[in-house]
Amino acid sequence: MDHPVSGRVGVLVPAAGRGERLGTGAAKALCEIAGTPMLVHAVRSLASAASVDTVVVAAPPEDVEAVRAVLGADILVVAGGDSRPESVRCALRVLPAEVDIVLVHDAARPFVPPSVVEAVVAAVRAGHDAVVPVLPVPDTVKRVAADGRVIETLSRADLYAAQTPQGFRRDVLAAAHAKSWTDATDDALLVERLGIPVWTVPGAADAFKVTWPEDLLRAEAVLAATPVADRDA
Ligand code: C5P
Repeated sequence: MDHPVSGRVGVLVPAAGRGERLGTGAAKALCEIAGTPMLVHAVRSLASAASVDTVVVAAPPEDVEAVRAVLGADILVVAGGDSRPESVRCALRVLPAEVDIVLVHDAARPFVPPSVVEAVVAAVRAGHDAVVPVLPVPDTVKRVAADGRVIETLSRADLYAAQTPQGFRRDVLAAAHAKSWTDATDDALLVERLGIPVWTVPGAADAFKVTWPEDLLRAEAVLAATPVADRDA
């Protein structure tokens, strides 16, 4: 634990991925769930958390104007980069100076509950430099060689899947991204590489990531189960 942090909360939303595993041909963040782009669902979910003051989206460069039009004037939109970490850096560069706590959230997780956002913010405010929502891994996980042979079986007891939003003191996230690493699939890994402890809070099943075509069906089902009154919260 470092020092407690007060101040404003900003969320960076990397949304510039091509979504090749989804197989739709369009930018993944713009794929529609019940007629509304996934990115719009994700930004609405974030904005419904009372602590969130500012949202910055890193969009596919060719879609910046379209994303601005669909999100409206309150959301900052910049062109993303060739990798997820580069897209996060594009958004970090325009984050207002008064933001002290930075969350990074995948556009591909459209239905993160506000309670998870608030738990991450609270843990950073309490003094943790870096915080990740996690879920226990239900499957037995094996490392497998390129030829299909099992190399080892990992102990499930201490394996967790990392979700987003991941939360950071701004100076810690900036230091991690100052290294210009491009190979990380989340931001916590960059902080781990600096030797700074990363802490966890419980994640949520609804914060799942849309990766495969069947995930779009799951997303439609989550939306259908959400009371109408809560949809645009
Ligand atoms: O590919 P994956 O699902 O891991 O991407 C996670 C998030 O990173 C997605 O929201 C995606 O749009 C974003 N991303 C990005 N810029 C890239 C690649 C991915 O903003 N170049």
